[in-house]
Amino acid sequence: MPSTALDPTGHRAAWNSVMTGYLPGLADLEQVITTAAERRTGPPARILDLGGGPGLFAERLATRWPAARITVADLDPVLLALARAALPTTVTTVETDLTDPSWPATTGTGYHLVTAVMTVHYLNPAAIRSLYAEIRRILAPGGLLVVADVMPDDGLPALMTALEAPPGQAWSHWWSQLASAPEFAPLMDRRTEIFRSRPPAEFTPALSWHAAAARAAGFPEAGALWRHGRHAALAAC
Ligand SMILES: C[S@@+](CC[C@H](N)C(=O)[O-])C[C@H]1O[C@@H](n2cnc3c(N)ncnc32)[C@H](O)[C@@H]1O
Repeated sequence: MPSTALDPTGHRAAWNSVMTGYLPGLADLEQVITTAAERRTGPPARILDLGGGPGLFAERLATRWPAARITVADLDPVLLALARAALPTTVTTVETDLTDPSWPATTGTGYHLVTAVMTVHYLNPAAIRSLYAEIRRILAPGGLLVVADVMPDDGLPALMTALEAPPGQAWSHWWSQLASAPEFAPLMDRRTEIFRSRPPAEFTPALSWHAAAARAAGFPEAGALWRHGRHAALAAC
């Protein structure tokens, strides 16, 4: 089915509400990422968003940096179709499985900024370690990696949980809305097949675990860039 047959607008807007509900500090996180990237390299010329889904963050990055070439890499054919149908021509989408160690063959190299927002909890510890090593290899000199996810503060587990937005039905409601749209049926079938063998690992260690994994992968510097309750962002460079 050609992606132009899909109307992405309502689904993408609803996705944005779901993500913002789950991660109330999302706008602040994105601001911190863009500021950090600009301070490090100036406006990044090449950006890779791993697990970028329907491309909301990529779209906002493209608005902020219109000259940047941005790649959204994701495994989900439904989310990629929504991204493709909406994003400007400066953004490329690629179907990529981050659990396959050869994934950089799909994205290429030379990125000034690599991001992964709410993506790495799908991966197991070995896959995350391998991911960090591959990202180190594909970053341009001076490039920055930012990984944001549930990364509890190992010193304040109860308080961190209390600060988290209450879990809701929003995620499953969003998917059921999409599943009821006939134009998505073939892609939904493919998606089901793909994720049948790749359920989310739900591996959410403390930020210190990610920092140690990034250093072990060869990043000289790795540490906390941002935090909101149990959600945090690791920066590595
Ligand atoms: C919670 S969503 C976040 C999407 C997007 N980053 C955002 O903030 O809107 C997690 C994303 O990770 C992607 N993902 C999960 N496992 C993956 C894998 N093995 N390879 C590539 N992407 C994967 C999913 O398809 C989904 O788009």
